[in-house]
Amino acid sequence: MKNLKRVFSFKPHYHFFPITGWINDPNGLIYWKGMYHMFYQYNPKSPSWGHIHWGHAVSKDLVHWFHLPVALYPKDERSGIFSGSAVEDNGKLKVIYTFFRDPEYHKSIKEVQYLAESSDGINFQEYSNNPIISTPPESEVYAFRDPKVRRSEKGSWEMVLGSGKNGNGRVLFYTSTDLINWHYRGVLFEGDFAQVFECPDLISMGRKEVLIYSACTPKVNGTFFVMGTVWDNKLIAENFGMLDVGHDYYAAQTFFGTERKIVIAWMQNPSNCSYPTQQEGWNGLMAIPRELHVENNELKIRPVEEVKQLRINEIVTEVNTKRKKSYDLNIEHNSYEIVCDFSPDVYLRLHNTWGESVEISTNNSILKVDTRRSGVSEGTIRKVEFKNERQNHLRVFVDSCSIEIFLNESIVCSFRIHPEYVYNILEFEGGSLHVYKLENIWLPN
Ligand code: FRU
Repeated sequence: MKNLKRVFSFKPHYHFFPITGWINDPNGLIYWKGMYHMFYQYNPKSPSWGHIHWGHAVSKDLVHWFHLPVALYPKDERSGIFSGSAVEDNGKLKVIYTFFRDPEYHKSIKEVQYLAESSDGINFQEYSNNPIISTPPESEVYAFRDPKVRRSEKGSWEMVLGSGKNGNGRVLFYTSTDLINWHYRGVLFEGDFAQVFECPDLISMGRKEVLIYSACTPKVNGTFFVMGTVWDNKLIAENFGMLDVGHDYYAAQTFFGTERKIVIAWMQNPSNCSYPTQQEGWNGLMAIPRELHVENNELKIRPVEEVKQLRINEIVTEVNTKRKKSYDLNIEHNSYEIVCDFSPDVYLRLHNTWGESVEISTNNSILKVDTRRSGVSEGTIRKVEFKNERQNHLRVFVDSCSIEIFLNESIVCSFRIHPEYVYNILEFEGGSLHVYKLENIWLPN
């Protein structure tokens, strides 16, 4: 068939992924001594969840990542180092995380909070009096994990912790002056649509507080946010939504130590973790880093500026077309970015002559993304309402096993896709169009 180019691996070109094994949540995101550190939930032995360590990687620019040795090891086969965060304190990089032990095996509390520190950012020493929080504030809580710590304006420490009780997801709030002794202040936020709120993160954005958390609900799994103000240790919500309305964006966390609010998430849906990448010995990848900001009380999301460094060359330039046109991208890999401005509607179809495709279109201010024929994994169809601007701006990032769509800094949707062939035909109808071939960060130049 004409122009068919087989994909030899689902390994991403410009997303962070494990060389072997399994990854889930990003943990301990911190900018420290000139480097962005990313720790993550990691099973080095298998491309499935289990026996969780903290893997470790660093980057100077949020785009090129380098794998470092494992930072934290579980104590035995039945325990795990669950999610948590990192801070800088007295020149040291300190991590606060959940230590988990299978209760069937060890009949004690299953999730407790631990502290460890490092002077070089690579080797960690556990605090000798762990756990720093050994019991939940109340009995019968459903979960007690994922501490995210920040420094308050007054210089003390604040922690949010994921939990749930009586069928309601909860975010618990603690404070401390030394990262060791923690005082429970109450339930910061609660919701009845999920049993547990996981991986909470509380960030100040100007005069607003934004709480990010992840949840698996009967209808949708993903990363949610609430914006508001904190009064008497409670978040008074003014505005809420999802950080990403696609199928695969979970456990988002922001960096400690940066002015910009930079967020990274695991690009997978926790309800479905079997992917064809497992046959290649790995599973899980991180979404591209995104920057959050607040404008007129609305949360705005865009890829970090640094991502533009990935552009190698422009392969399609179209100043303005209102007619549907087809472009032969003439590329070897599914590794490109599409940028277009349109008004009021756009139609984009990436496909190949094998019949694999992703369709992105708008109609009546509804964005529709169809990944049902995208490749060998099951796809989905999403429809989301958006605010139709006089000029709409769309950016689409295609990689070997993912697609991320950013519309007007207000809607983002991410999906896992597994095409067996390169999508080298692009059908387009809308306004201006630019397509850039993107770099492979894992291969030497
Ligand atoms: C979210 C999560 C966290 C937990 C970790 C375990 O994906 O369930 O709540 O700490 O994964 O790997």
